[in-house]
Amino acid sequence: MADAMSSGFYWEIGDPMLYWPLFWPQRRNTDGLRILVAGCGTVQAAYYALRNPTWTVVGIDFSESSLKHQAVLKKRHHLENLELHKLDLEDVATLGKEFDFITCTGVLHHLPNPESGLIALRNVLSPEGVINLMVYGSSLRVGVYMLQEAFRELQFRQTPVDVEIVRSVIQTLPEDHAAQKYIQAVNDLSYDSGLVDTFLHPQDASFDVKGVYSLTRNCGLEFISWCDPINYSLRHHIPQEHPLWTKLNDISDESAAHVCDLLLQRQGTHRWLVGHPDYVNKIKIEFSGNNFLSFTIIPHRNLVIHQQSDPIANTPAECTRDGYAFQISAGLARLMALLSGDNNISSVLGKGGLDDILRSTSLDALKEEIKSLWEMGHVYVLLPEIR
Ligand SMILES: C[S@@+](CC[C@H](N)C(=O)[O-])C[C@H]1O[C@@H](n2cnc3c(N)ncnc32)[C@H](O)[C@@H]1O
Repeated sequence: MADAMSSGFYWEIGDPMLYWPLFWPQRRNTDGLRILVAGCGTVQAAYYALRNPTWTVVGIDFSESSLKHQAVLKKRHHLENLELHKLDLEDVATLGKEFDFITCTGVLHHLPNPESGLIALRNVLSPEGVINLMVYGSSLRVGVYMLQEAFRELQFRQTPVDVEIVRSVIQTLPEDHAAQKYIQAVNDLSYDSGLVDTFLHPQDASFDVKGVYSLTRNCGLEFISWCDPINYSLRHHIPQEHPLWTKLNDISDESAAHVCDLLLQRQGTHRWLVGHPDYVNKIKIEFSGNNFLSFTIIPHRNLVIHQQSDPIANTPAECTRDGYAFQISAGLARLMALLSGDNNISSVLGKGGLDDILRSTSLDALKEEIKSLWEMGHVYVLLPEIR
Protein backbone atom coordinates (compact mmCIF):
# COMPACT_ATOMS: atom_id res chain seq x y z
CA MET A 1 0.00 0.00 0.00
CA ALA A 2 2.80 2.43 0.89
CA ASP A 3 4.35 1.96 -2.56
CA ALA A 4 1.03 2.40 -4.33
CA MET A 5 0.44 5.65 -2.45
CA SER A 6 3.88 7.14 -2.89
CA SER A 7 3.74 6.42 -6.64
CA GLY A 8 0.40 8.26 -6.74
CA PHE A 9 -1.37 5.09 -7.93
CA TYR A 10 -3.60 4.83 -4.86
CA TRP A 11 -5.39 7.96 -3.80
CA GLU A 12 -8.83 8.76 -2.54
CA ILE A 13 -11.39 11.25 -3.74
CA GLY A 14 -11.90 13.48 -0.69
CA ASP A 15 -8.42 12.98 0.81
CA PRO A 16 -7.80 16.19 2.85
CA MET A 17 -4.19 16.26 1.67
CA LEU A 18 -5.39 16.69 -1.92
CA TYR A 19 -8.76 18.38 -1.50
CA TRP A 20 -8.21 20.73 1.46
CA PRO A 21 -8.89 23.97 -0.48
CA LEU A 22 -12.39 22.68 -1.19
CA PHE A 23 -13.04 21.94 2.50
CA TRP A 24 -11.23 24.81 4.14
CA PRO A 25 -10.80 27.73 1.74
CA GLN A 26 -9.73 29.74 4.78
CA ARG A 27 -7.39 27.18 6.34
CA ARG A 28 -4.09 26.17 4.81
CA ASN A 29 -2.50 23.89 7.34
CA THR A 30 -3.83 20.35 7.62
CA ASP A 31 -1.32 19.29 10.30
CA GLY A 32 -2.86 17.70 13.35
CA LEU A 33 -6.24 16.88 11.80
CA ARG A 34 -8.45 14.56 13.87
CA ILE A 35 -9.96 12.15 11.36
CA LEU A 36 -12.80 9.65 11.70
CA VAL A 37 -13.25 6.95 9.08
CA ALA A 38 -16.78 5.67 9.66
CA GLY A 39 -17.37 2.22 8.17
CA CYS A 40 -13.67 1.97 7.33
CA GLY A 41 -13.76 -1.46 5.61
CA THR A 42 -10.43 -3.20 5.04
CA VAL A 43 -8.06 -0.36 4.01
CA GLN A 44 -9.42 3.19 4.27
CA ALA A 45 -8.43 4.14 7.85
CA ALA A 46 -4.88 2.81 7.36
CA TYR A 47 -4.67 4.84 4.13
CA TYR A 48 -5.40 8.08 5.98
CA ALA A 49 -3.02 7.24 8.84
CA LEU A 50 -0.19 6.37 6.44
CA ARG A 51 -0.91 9.40 4.29
CA ASN A 52 0.05 11.83 7.03
CA PRO A 53 1.69 10.97 10.34
CA THR A 54 0.54 14.25 11.92
CA TRP A 55 -3.11 13.22 11.62
CA THR A 56 -4.75 11.11 14.31
CA VAL A 57 -7.07 8.63 12.66
CA VAL A 58 -9.89 6.65 14.24
CA GLY A 59 -11.38 3.86 12.12
CA ILE A 60 -14.67 2.26 13.14
CA ASP A 61 -16.53 -0.63 11.55
CA PHE A 62 -18.88 -3.27 12.84
CA SER A 63 -17.18 -6.00 10.81
CA GLU A 64 -14.55 -7.91 12.77
CA SER A 65 -12.89 -9.28 9.63
CA SER A 66 -12.50 -5.84 8.02
CA LEU A 67 -10.90 -4.48 11.20
CA LYS A 68 -8.55 -7.45 11.35
CA HIS A 69 -7.21 -6.50 7.93
CA GLN A 70 -6.73 -2.87 9.01
CA ALA A 71 -4.91 -4.12 12.12
CA VAL A 72 -2.47 -6.03 9.89
CA LEU A 73 -1.81 -2.81 7.92
CA LYS A 74 -1.38 -0.85 11.16
CA LYS A 75 1.27 -3.27 12.34
CA ARG A 76 3.02 -3.57 8.98
CA HIS A 77 3.33 0.20 8.52
CA HIS A 78 3.87 1.08 12.21
CA LEU A 79 0.84 3.35 12.25
CA GLU A 80 1.04 4.76 15.80
CA ASN A 81 -1.52 7.41 14.82
CA LEU A 82 -4.26 4.87 13.99
CA GLU A 83 -6.93 3.67 16.45
CA LEU A 84 -9.42 0.98 15.43
CA HIS A 85 -12.74 0.22 17.12
CA LYS A 86 -15.42 -2.35 16.48
CA LEU A 87 -18.39 -0.03 16.70
CA ASP A 88 -21.69 0.74 15.00
CA LEU A 89 -21.38 4.21 13.53
CA GLU A 90 -24.62 5.21 15.25
CA ASP A 91 -22.77 4.74 18.57
CA VAL A 92 -19.74 6.84 17.60
CA ALA A 93 -20.46 9.41 20.36
CA THR A 94 -19.49 6.76 22.94
CA LEU A 95 -15.85 7.39 21.92
CA GLY A 96 -16.15 10.86 23.53
CA LYS A 97 -14.15 12.47 20.70
CA GLU A 98 -14.62 15.30 18.21
CA PHE A 99 -13.32 15.23 14.62
CA ASP A 100 -12.17 17.83 12.06
CA PHE A 101 -12.74 15.54 9.12
CA ILE A 102 -15.05 12.55 8.79
CA THR A 103 -15.18 10.29 5.80
CA CYS A 104 -18.07 7.90 5.31
CA THR A 105 -18.10 6.35 1.86
CA GLY A 106 -20.16 3.40 0.70
CA VAL A 107 -21.86 3.02 4.08
CA LEU A 108 -24.96 5.20 4.57
CA HIS A 109 -26.87 3.54 1.69
CA HIS A 110 -26.58 0.19 3.52
CA LEU A 111 -28.08 1.51 6.78
CA PRO A 112 -31.76 0.92 7.60
CA ASN A 113 -31.94 4.63 8.42
CA PRO A 114 -29.24 6.70 6.64
CA GLU A 115 -30.44 9.89 8.38
CA SER A 116 -29.83 8.62 11.90
CA GLY A 117 -26.36 7.45 10.77
CA LEU A 118 -25.49 10.89 9.40
CA ILE A 119 -26.90 12.64 12.48
CA ALA A 120 -24.62 10.49 14.65
CA LEU A 121 -21.66 11.69 12.56
CA ARG A 122 -22.78 15.33 12.71
CA ASN A 123 -22.85 15.08 16.51
CA VAL A 124 -19.11 14.36 16.65
CA LEU A 125 -18.09 16.90 13.97
CA SER A 126 -16.08 19.93 15.18
CA PRO A 127 -17.54 23.40 14.41
CA GLU A 128 -15.30 23.87 11.33
CA GLY A 129 -15.24 20.20 10.46
CA VAL A 130 -16.15 18.65 7.10
CA ILE A 131 -17.81 15.33 6.27
CA ASN A 132 -16.97 13.59 3.01
CA LEU A 133 -19.85 11.34 1.89
CA MET A 134 -20.48 8.81 -0.85
CA VAL A 135 -23.77 7.01 -1.48
CA TYR A 136 -25.20 5.10 -4.44
CA GLY A 137 -26.71 7.28 -7.15
CA SER A 138 -30.10 6.21 -8.44
CA SER A 139 -29.94 7.36 -12.08
CA LEU A 140 -27.26 4.95 -13.29
CA ARG A 141 -28.45 2.10 -11.05
CA VAL A 142 -31.99 1.85 -12.46
CA GLY A 143 -31.25 -1.49 -14.15
CA VAL A 144 -29.36 -2.80 -11.10
CA TYR A 145 -32.58 -2.62 -9.08
CA MET A 146 -34.38 -4.65 -11.75
CA LEU A 147 -31.74 -7.36 -11.42
CA GLN A 148 -31.82 -7.20 -7.61
CA GLU A 149 -35.57 -7.79 -7.74
CA ALA A 150 -35.17 -10.71 -10.13
CA PHE A 151 -32.59 -12.31 -7.80
CA ARG A 152 -34.89 -11.77 -4.81
CA GLU A 153 -37.74 -13.51 -6.68
CA LEU A 154 -35.33 -16.38 -7.32
CA GLN A 155 -34.59 -16.46 -3.56
CA PHE A 156 -30.87 -16.01 -4.12
CA ARG A 157 -28.65 -15.89 -1.02
CA GLN A 158 -25.06 -14.70 -0.54
CA THR A 159 -23.65 -18.19 -1.23
CA PRO A 160 -20.77 -19.09 -3.61
CA VAL A 161 -23.22 -21.02 -5.83
CA ASP A 162 -25.67 -18.13 -6.14
CA VAL A 163 -22.85 -15.62 -6.71
CA GLU A 164 -21.65 -17.79 -9.61
CA ILE A 165 -25.15 -17.77 -11.12
CA VAL A 166 -25.30 -13.96 -10.73
CA ARG A 167 -21.99 -13.78 -12.60
CA SER A 168 -23.30 -15.87 -15.48
CA VAL A 169 -26.53 -13.84 -15.65
CA ILE A 170 -24.46 -10.65 -15.95
CA GLN A 171 -22.31 -12.20 -18.67
CA THR A 172 -25.33 -13.22 -20.74
CA LEU A 173 -27.49 -10.16 -20.14
CA PRO A 174 -29.01 -8.68 -23.33
CA GLU A 175 -26.83 -5.90 -24.70
CA ASP A 176 -29.66 -3.39 -24.44
CA HIS A 177 -30.63 -4.23 -20.84
CA ALA A 178 -31.00 -1.15 -18.62
CA ALA A 179 -28.24 -2.44 -16.28
CA GLN A 180 -25.57 -2.55 -19.03
CA LYS A 181 -24.53 1.10 -18.69
CA TYR A 182 -23.83 0.57 -14.98
CA ILE A 183 -22.04 -2.73 -15.56
CA GLN A 184 -19.74 -1.11 -18.15
CA ALA A 185 -19.06 1.93 -15.93
CA VAL A 186 -17.89 0.23 -12.73
CA ASN A 187 -14.84 -1.91 -12.10
CA ASP A 188 -15.78 -3.94 -9.02
CA LEU A 189 -17.98 -6.59 -10.65
CA SER A 190 -15.07 -8.89 -11.38
CA TYR A 191 -14.86 -9.66 -7.63
CA ASP A 192 -17.33 -11.80 -5.67
CA SER A 193 -17.60 -9.08 -3.02
CA GLY A 194 -18.54 -6.52 -5.70
CA LEU A 195 -21.22 -8.82 -7.13
CA VAL A 196 -22.64 -9.46 -3.67
CA ASP A 197 -22.64 -5.76 -2.74
CA THR A 198 -24.26 -4.74 -6.02
CA PHE A 199 -26.84 -7.46 -6.56
CA LEU A 200 -27.38 -9.45 -3.36
CA HIS A 201 -27.15 -6.88 -0.56
CA PRO A 202 -30.35 -7.01 1.50
CA GLN A 203 -30.15 -3.31 2.43
CA ASP A 204 -29.53 -0.93 -0.47
CA ALA A 205 -30.96 2.56 -0.82
CA SER A 206 -29.92 4.93 -3.58
CA PHE A 207 -30.21 8.68 -3.89
CA ASP A 208 -30.90 11.17 -6.66
CA VAL A 209 -29.51 14.72 -6.41
CA LYS A 210 -32.59 16.00 -4.57
CA GLY A 211 -32.26 13.06 -2.18
CA VAL A 212 -28.64 14.02 -1.49
CA TYR A 213 -29.67 17.59 -0.64
CA SER A 214 -32.57 16.51 1.57
CA LEU A 215 -30.47 13.92 3.39
CA THR A 216 -27.98 16.74 4.11
CA ARG A 217 -30.60 19.24 5.28
CA ASN A 218 -32.67 16.74 7.28
CA CYS A 219 -29.57 16.00 9.32
CA GLY A 220 -29.02 19.68 10.21
CA LEU A 221 -26.05 19.97 7.84
CA GLU A 222 -25.31 22.19 4.86
CA PHE A 223 -24.05 21.23 1.41
CA ILE A 224 -20.54 22.55 0.65
CA SER A 225 -19.72 21.13 -2.78
CA TRP A 226 -19.73 18.05 -4.96
CA CYS A 227 -16.29 16.43 -4.80
CA ASP A 228 -16.17 16.84 -8.57
CA PRO A 229 -18.58 19.62 -9.61
CA ILE A 230 -18.16 19.00 -13.35
CA ASN A 231 -20.36 15.89 -13.10
CA TYR A 232 -23.26 18.14 -12.06
CA SER A 233 -22.73 21.06 -14.42
CA LEU A 234 -24.90 20.52 -17.50
CA ARG A 235 -23.52 23.63 -19.21
CA HIS A 236 -20.22 21.87 -19.58
CA HIS A 237 -21.83 18.97 -21.38
CA ILE A 238 -24.02 20.79 -23.92
CA PRO A 239 -23.08 23.31 -26.61
CA GLN A 240 -23.65 26.99 -25.81
CA GLU A 241 -26.25 27.26 -28.61
CA HIS A 242 -28.42 24.56 -26.99
CA PRO A 243 -31.82 25.97 -25.89
CA LEU A 244 -31.35 24.41 -22.43
CA TRP A 245 -28.39 26.71 -21.76
CA THR A 246 -30.55 29.75 -20.93
CA LYS A 247 -33.28 27.69 -19.20
CA LEU A 248 -30.66 26.75 -16.62
CA ASN A 249 -30.46 30.42 -15.53
CA ASP A 250 -33.96 30.20 -14.08
CA ILE A 251 -33.47 27.31 -11.67
CA SER A 252 -31.49 26.75 -8.45
CA ASP A 253 -28.09 25.05 -8.34
CA GLU A 254 -29.77 22.04 -6.76
CA SER A 255 -32.35 21.74 -9.58
CA ALA A 256 -29.71 22.28 -12.25
CA ALA A 257 -27.57 19.48 -10.77
CA HIS A 258 -30.65 17.23 -10.58
CA VAL A 259 -31.47 17.89 -14.25
CA CYS A 260 -27.84 17.20 -15.19
CA ASP A 261 -27.88 13.83 -13.40
CA LEU A 262 -31.22 12.87 -14.99
CA LEU A 263 -30.17 13.84 -18.51
CA LEU A 264 -26.64 12.41 -18.47
CA GLN A 265 -27.34 9.30 -16.36
CA ARG A 266 -23.68 8.84 -15.45
CA GLN A 267 -23.55 8.89 -11.67
CA GLY A 268 -23.53 5.45 -10.08
CA THR A 269 -22.46 7.18 -6.87
CA HIS A 270 -22.69 10.71 -5.48
CA ARG A 271 -19.72 12.16 -3.60
CA TRP A 272 -20.21 15.41 -1.73
CA LEU A 273 -19.03 17.46 1.25
CA VAL A 274 -21.10 18.85 4.12
CA GLY A 275 -20.50 20.89 7.26
CA HIS A 276 -22.33 22.73 10.03
CA PRO A 277 -24.47 25.53 8.50
CA ASP A 278 -22.61 28.35 10.34
CA TYR A 279 -19.28 27.21 8.97
CA VAL A 280 -20.57 26.62 5.44
CA ASN A 281 -22.07 30.13 5.33
CA LYS A 282 -18.71 31.54 6.39
CA ILE A 283 -16.86 29.89 3.50
CA LYS A 284 -19.38 30.64 0.71
CA ILE A 285 -17.48 31.66 -2.40
CA GLU A 286 -19.25 34.42 -4.28
CA PHE A 287 -18.05 36.28 -7.33
CA SER A 288 -19.57 39.70 -6.73
CA GLY A 289 -18.10 42.93 -8.08
CA ASN A 290 -14.34 42.70 -8.09
CA ASN A 291 -14.02 40.68 -4.87
CA PHE A 292 -12.42 37.91 -6.91
CA LEU A 293 -9.23 39.99 -6.97
CA SER A 294 -8.68 38.97 -3.35
CA PHE A 295 -8.89 35.23 -4.21
CA THR A 296 -6.04 32.84 -4.80
CA ILE A 297 -6.51 30.09 -7.38
CA ILE A 298 -5.16 26.59 -6.89
CA PRO A 299 -5.28 24.22 -9.87
CA HIS A 300 -6.92 20.82 -9.41
CA ARG A 301 -4.20 18.21 -8.89
CA ASN A 302 -4.97 16.63 -12.27
CA LEU A 303 -5.18 19.86 -14.26
CA VAL A 304 -2.52 19.85 -16.96
CA ILE A 305 -1.72 22.86 -19.11
CA HIS A 306 -0.28 21.11 -22.16
CA GLN A 307 0.78 23.96 -24.30
CA GLN A 308 1.47 27.34 -22.76
CA SER A 309 -0.28 30.21 -24.48
CA ASP A 310 1.40 33.12 -26.11
CA PRO A 311 -0.05 36.29 -24.54
CA ILE A 312 1.30 38.50 -27.30
CA ALA A 313 -0.31 36.40 -30.02
CA ASN A 314 -3.27 35.91 -27.63
CA THR A 315 -3.53 32.17 -28.26
CA PRO A 316 -5.33 30.11 -25.63
CA ALA A 317 -3.67 27.30 -23.67
CA GLU A 318 -4.84 23.71 -24.20
CA CYS A 319 -5.72 21.94 -20.95
CA THR A 320 -7.00 18.59 -19.72
CA ARG A 321 -8.34 17.40 -16.38
CA ASP A 322 -9.62 13.89 -15.67
CA GLY A 323 -10.51 13.22 -19.30
CA TYR A 324 -12.00 16.67 -20.02
CA ALA A 325 -10.28 18.84 -22.63
CA PHE A 326 -10.73 22.62 -22.61
CA GLN A 327 -8.90 25.87 -23.27
CA ILE A 328 -7.97 28.76 -21.03
CA SER A 329 -7.30 32.24 -22.29
CA ALA A 330 -3.79 33.59 -22.68
CA GLY A 331 -4.41 36.10 -19.87
CA LEU A 332 -5.57 33.51 -17.37
CA ALA A 333 -2.78 31.11 -18.29
CA ARG A 334 -0.29 33.89 -17.57
CA LEU A 335 -2.02 34.74 -14.30
CA MET A 336 -2.01 31.10 -13.17
CA ALA A 337 1.68 30.81 -13.94
CA LEU A 338 2.39 33.80 -11.68
CA LEU A 339 0.06 32.80 -8.82
CA SER A 340 1.50 30.72 -6.05
CA GLY A 341 -0.25 29.61 -2.85
CA ASP A 342 0.92 32.77 -1.12
CA ASN A 343 -0.25 35.58 -3.33
CA ASN A 344 -3.68 36.59 -4.55
CA ILE A 345 -4.89 37.81 -7.92
CA SER A 346 -4.64 41.50 -7.10
CA SER A 347 -1.07 41.17 -5.84
CA VAL A 348 -0.05 39.53 -9.14
CA LEU A 349 -1.85 42.18 -11.15
CA GLY A 350 -0.21 44.87 -9.00
CA LYS A 351 3.29 43.52 -9.61
CA GLY A 352 3.44 44.42 -13.26
CA GLY A 353 1.62 41.29 -14.35
CA LEU A 354 -1.35 43.47 -15.16
CA ASP A 355 -0.23 44.74 -18.55
CA ASP A 356 0.63 41.32 -19.81
CA ILE A 357 -2.55 39.73 -18.59
CA LEU A 358 -4.98 42.47 -19.46
CA ARG A 359 -3.52 42.95 -22.89
CA SER A 360 -5.48 39.91 -23.95
CA THR A 361 -8.50 39.96 -21.65
CA SER A 362 -10.68 42.37 -19.66
CA LEU A 363 -11.12 42.14 -15.90
CA ASP A 364 -14.73 41.05 -16.38
CA ALA A 365 -13.78 38.33 -18.85
CA LEU A 366 -11.07 37.15 -16.47
CA LYS A 367 -13.60 36.96 -13.63
CA GLU A 368 -16.12 34.98 -15.72
CA GLU A 369 -13.44 32.59 -16.85
CA ILE A 370 -12.17 31.93 -13.31
CA LYS A 371 -15.74 31.48 -12.08
CA SER A 372 -16.51 28.99 -14.80
CA LEU A 373 -13.30 26.98 -14.17
CA TRP A 374 -14.13 26.93 -10.45
CA GLU A 375 -17.72 25.81 -11.14
CA MET A 376 -16.33 22.88 -13.14
CA GLY A 377 -13.89 21.96 -10.36
CA HIS A 378 -10.82 22.55 -12.57
CA VAL A 379 -9.49 25.05 -10.01
CA TYR A 380 -10.09 25.76 -6.32
CA VAL A 381 -10.49 29.20 -4.81
CA LEU A 382 -8.88 30.32 -1.56
CA LEU A 383 -10.53 33.19 0.27
CA PRO A 384 -8.56 36.21 1.53
CA GLU A 385 -8.80 35.74 5.30
CA ILE A 386 -6.64 32.61 5.14
CA ARG A 387 -3.34 34.27 5.87
C1 LIG B 1 -18.65 -0.97 1.05
S1 LIG B 1 -17.71 -0.95 2.51
C2 LIG B 1 -16.89 0.62 2.35
C3 LIG B 1 -15.59 0.66 3.05
C4 LIG B 1 -14.86 2.00 2.99
N1 LIG B 1 -15.64 3.05 3.57
C5 LIG B 1 -14.48 2.36 1.59
O1 LIG B 1 -15.06 3.28 0.98
O2 LIG B 1 -13.55 1.72 1.07
C6 LIG B 1 -18.88 -0.65 3.77
C7 LIG B 1 -18.32 -0.85 5.17
O3 LIG B 1 -19.22 -0.26 6.11
C8 LIG B 1 -19.35 -1.12 7.23
N2 LIG B 1 -20.63 -0.80 7.89
C9 LIG B 1 -21.86 -0.90 7.36
N3 LIG B 1 -22.78 -0.50 8.26
C10 LIG B 1 -22.09 -0.09 9.37
C11 LIG B 1 -22.48 0.45 10.61
N4 LIG B 1 -23.76 0.66 10.92
N5 LIG B 1 -21.53 0.75 11.51
C12 LIG B 1 -20.22 0.53 11.23
N6 LIG B 1 -19.79 0.02 10.04
C13 LIG B 1 -20.72 -0.30 9.12
C14 LIG B 1 -19.26 -2.51 6.61
O4 LIG B 1 -18.89 -3.48 7.57
C15 LIG B 1 -18.20 -2.32 5.54
O5 LIG B 1 -16.90 -2.55 6.05
